[in-house]
Order: sequence, then structure tokens, then C-alpha cells
Amino acid sequence: ATDRPRISVIGTGYLGATHAAAMAEMGFDVVGVDQDPRKVEALSAGRVPFFEPGLPELIEKHVATGRLRFTTDIAEATAVSDVHFICVGTPQQATSFAANLSYVEDATAAVAKNLTHPGLIVGKSTVPVGTAARLRLLVARHVPAGVGVELIWNPEFLREGKAVDDTLSPDRIVLGGASPAAEATMRELYALPIAAGAPVITCDLPTAELVKVSANAFLATKISFINAIAEVCEAAGADVSVLADALGHDVRIGRQFLNAGLGFGGGCLPKDIRALMHRSKELGAHQAAGLMQQVDEINMAQRQSVIDKTVVAAGGSVLNKRIGVLGVAFKPFTDDVRDSPALNVAAALHLRGAQVTVHDPEANGTARANFPTLSYASNPLDAAIGASALLVLTEWPELVDVSPESLGEIVENRVVIDARNCLDPERWAAAGWRVVSLGKETVVPAPAVRVAALV
Ligand code: UDX
Repeated sequence: ATDRPRISVIGTGYLGATHAAAMAEMGFDVVGVDQDPRKVEALSAGRVPFFEPGLPELIEKHVATGRLRFTTDIAEATAVSDVHFICVGTPQQATSFAANLSYVEDATAAVAKNLTHPGLIVGKSTVPVGTAARLRLLVARHVPAGVGVELIWNPEFLREGKAVDDTLSPDRIVLGGASPAAEATMRELYALPIAAGAPVITCDLPTAELVKVSANAFLATKISFINAIAEVCEAAGADVSVLADALGHDVRIGRQFLNAGLGFGGGCLPKDIRALMHRSKELGAHQAAGLMQQVDEINMAQRQSVIDKTVVAAGGSVLNKRIGVLGVAFKPFTDDVRDSPALNVAAALHLRGAQVTVHDPEANGTARANFPTLSYASNPLDAAIGASALLVLTEWPELVDVSPESLGEIVENRVVIDARNCLDPERWAAAGWRVVSLGKETVVPAPAVRVAALV
């Protein structure tokens, strides 16, 4: 029907590009807006400037159906749309832990200024609690006289690498500050996921903003909790992986996000817990600030622990030694290296004088753009040649399955630091490797079979 709400999506990063494509898939006319003409040109041609499984296909499909297009012209996009999603970034500020809200403010003001008919502005970006209320004042200042407008908050919970599925089938739909009319519009937009069972939670603006922030804070806390317990396991000779499996059977705890290792990174968790720390302090909520501080510290300590283990494995110093690094993305199935613990560790070893060669199935390019002085190899073997220590820092399936036998042939000091507890230690030990994990005992090489002695 032609009276369906028409949609604009401001910002075409992970969040915006995926949301725009998903809305088109759900049957709506969508225009994506970005300041960067190169992004607009790429997306218009069905090319996605980052690695996200399934997204290029979906964008290509709906650029072809005509339901999806991209532009740099926010005035034009606003004029032809009824619902305007704010999907721009809220990165950490350069000089503090606070979130930089200038993109959100600019995008919201630009939509408000260019409204030609009544509209609904829907914030999706992750923002510190209290932001949406201020944006409402900003909108009131900028909107042309006589044009009706409402601003609500509808946080997004997508994971990189699973962004398309998460957006098409969300766990829940949170609507903050929506009037009955706005709620009805949103229920129309999300009719398909709602029909498929996604619960709708309506609440006020600050609750909606905080649901998103606390979801990420909880996930980060879970990871830092298991990493803290991993420290105890290591000291006591226990095995954190077995322990996590045992914990996970309690449905109140759950097995997910209990993988001990190098800790969390990426464009969301680290900056979001720091923004929460900062905002909690501003609000006088000191317990939350203290908790987030501790979660951050435990997380960063994991990187140091892997660096220390590498120095020990390489014989006390990494100066002038070759170090092979498998995986630099912040997690598998992405080429994202924002706040990547893996790239961080590789870079730190380089800065200590090691000759670091990195291989990642997807992230060599993005890593090189951030850290050009590391060496990059197109396969695991080339990364490992002559290494004094081999590090597995991202648990890509192809790296988990890499052959310890073939690697063993080109490495003299057969020691692997399994920073994601993802390898099969018995298999590696059988191939002559010493396997150093986090939160469990080191596995030493199986004694060589003395063929001569047997006969
Ligand atoms: C996260 C949230 O999951 C998502 O809901 C939110 O919208 C954005 O932030 P994402 O950053 O894509 O998503 O990554 P996620 O899959 O959550 O992983 C975050 C980090 O935690 C990765 O570095 C991962 O390696 C690490 N992690 C995850 C662990 O160290 N252990 C675990 O058990 C799980």
C-alpha cells in the first residue's frame, strides 16, 4: 500500500546499513543517508565497505527492487520520508571516557530542520542516559513552525557478524517515550518480527536508553567475571573451560559469554562500559561506576597477561624474535579491528622489538590500515615461519583447525599461546607443541614415540 510509512536512515555504518536493508526486506521504501559520498556510492552499487555476512546480498537485492537507495542529501531524504532513524556513531571521546554525541546531535538537528511534513524521529544509536530528553529540546528548537514531530528511542542490539539475523529477528523491541500514535507506527514497521514472537517493551526515554547500555555492560561483566575466575583457576591448577561448562548448565547463569581468554573488544563493549562509567559518575551513581571500572581493568589485564606469557615462551625477551600471530579481528566473522585485543597484543609485542607477522582470514586489510608496521601474511604458515612463539588471538574456525603438524615443521620453538582457549591441546601436544592457555595448566608435548626402542 502506498500509505505505508516511508523511511530514512541517517548514518550507514554497521547499524544504519543493516537497519536500512532490513527495513527494505520488511517491505518498506528506505533511503539511507551518509555524509561520506564514497560510502553512498559503494552502497548504491551493492558494495558494503566492511565485512558483514549476508549484508551485501540483502543490499544488492533491494537496490534492485527499488525499495532501497542511498544519498548524501539529508534534506531530500527527510522530505520524502515519514520515519527517520538516527543510526550514527557515538564513539569514545579522544580526551575522556565520555561518548562523543556530536554526530547524534548534528543528525537529529539536520532532520528536524529539514522536516517538510509531520515526522517521527527514532533514535537507535547507543547514547548515555539523558541524551534523548536533550535531543527533544534540540528538535523543538530546529523544527519549522507548524510541523508536528515526535522523538522516541528504539535501541538496537545487533552483533557484528550476525547483524542481518539480529535485525530481522530481534530478541526484543524496546520503545522509549512513544505516544500511542508513535507506538502504532513502530508496530507497523516491526510487524514481521512481532508476528514472529519478538516481545515489545514500552517504557520512558531514560529506561530505553539504559536497557541498551546495561545489556552491553552485563555482557562485558560476564566476560570479566570468567576472566577473573580464570586467574584463580590458573593459580590453583583448575580448568576454566570445564568450569564454565559446568556453570553454564545452571539456566540462571547460562553458558554464553563465559569464554575466558583475551577479553572483549570491538566498537561497542569497551566504549559502552566506559561511557556508563563516566555517566554514572556524573549522576552520582558510584557503585555502577566502580563496577564498570573493575570490568574494564580485568579486561585490559588479559591483554597484559598474554603479552607476559609470550615473553616467557620466547625465552625471556621478544627483542628481534619472530612472533606469529593468528587472528587480529576483535572476534571471528568480522574484519573489524576497533579496540581489538588481538591487534593490541600484536602491536605491543612489535613495540617491544619483536618481528610480528600476522594472519587474519578477513582483517589483514583493516589491521594494516591501523598498524602498517606489522607484517601481514596471507596464510597461517607464512605467519608462523621461524616464530619463537605462535599466538592464536581470534578463534576463527579455520585458525582453530589449522594443522599443528604442518606448523610444527616450520617452527623450531613449538610453543603456542592459545589466548582464546580454542585449540585442542591434546592434538597440539601430540604434534610436539607446548600449549599455553588462559585459566588452565600448560599442556606439554607428548613424549616422542621412541620407535627404535620398541623394536
Ligand atoms: C556487542 C553485543 O553483543 C551486541 O548485543 C551489541 O549490540 C553490540 O555489542 P559485538 O561487539 O558485535 O556485539 O560483539 P560480541 O559478539 O558481543 O563480542 C564482544 C567481544 O567479547 C568480542 O571481542 C569477543 O571475543 C568477546 N567475548 C565474547 C569473550 O571474550 N568471551 C565470550 O564468552 C564472549
